[in-house]
Amino acid sequence: MPVLTLDRILSSIGFGSRKECRSIVRMGLVELNGQVVEDPFLEFKERPAFITVNGEEVPTMEKLYVMMDKPLDVECSHNPRDHQSVYSLLPDRFSAMGIQTVGRLDADSSGLLLLSNQGDFIHKVESPKKGYLKKYRVTLARPFTQEQCEELLRGVMLKGERRQVLAREIKVEPSKNLEGKDAVLVSIGEGLYHQVRRMFAAVGNHVETLERVSIGPVVLDNALGRGGWRFLTEDEVKFLS
Ligand code: URA
Repeated sequence: MPVLTLDRILSSIGFGSRKECRSIVRMGLVELNGQVVEDPFLEFKERPAFITVNGEEVPTMEKLYVMMDKPLDVECSHNPRDHQSVYSLLPDRFSAMGIQTVGRLDADSSGLLLLSNQGDFIHKVESPKKGYLKKYRVTLARPFTQEQCEELLRGVMLKGERRQVLAREIKVEPSKNLEGKDAVLVSIGEGLYHQVRRMFAAVGNHVETLERVSIGPVVLDNALGRGGWRFLTEDEVKFLS
């Protein structure tokens, strides 16, 4: 095991190459416990929980597990075509650490988006075998009928797919005000391209708004606000692993 030095720690959490990190330290931009540290080769037995870089207190863990409340008009891509990227809503250093979205949400969908730099975690959560239900709240252009509901629960064939997909659970959430539309909460097991929109289109309706509210046991934290993010708690990571 190489000796754990300050430049190695900074580099492992996305502040650049070890050479770049050494110069950040020599510029006096790094503090530990309120003291500027000028020696980039300072050795540690264990990672300190936090390091202050450029006035910002930064946690030092290498494994990233993040929940975001994705806003509309933001793309889940490192090379977005028409909008800004979800990665631009996170610290740049997360991209340097290899963060990726766990599945995707369309640009015109909002809500719970998970991100991580741990391939096995991403794979597990995305895998339909693991069976995490993804729950969405949608509003529709036309009234949602009993027939449409039953058809979705029985299963529909989507163009270009080999197997039927079905809604695992459907619940209608009446609007809280008279002018507002009812919302439909729908849970699915897979994550096919535009799946929820295509399923409602297949039964003759049209999704106007779509928000993801949960993935398995992890529920969108409404305190984040659109565009906000936080690290997953240890329990949330454990529940999904
Ligand atoms: N289904 C969709 O149609 N869009 C999403 O973003 C997610 C699920």
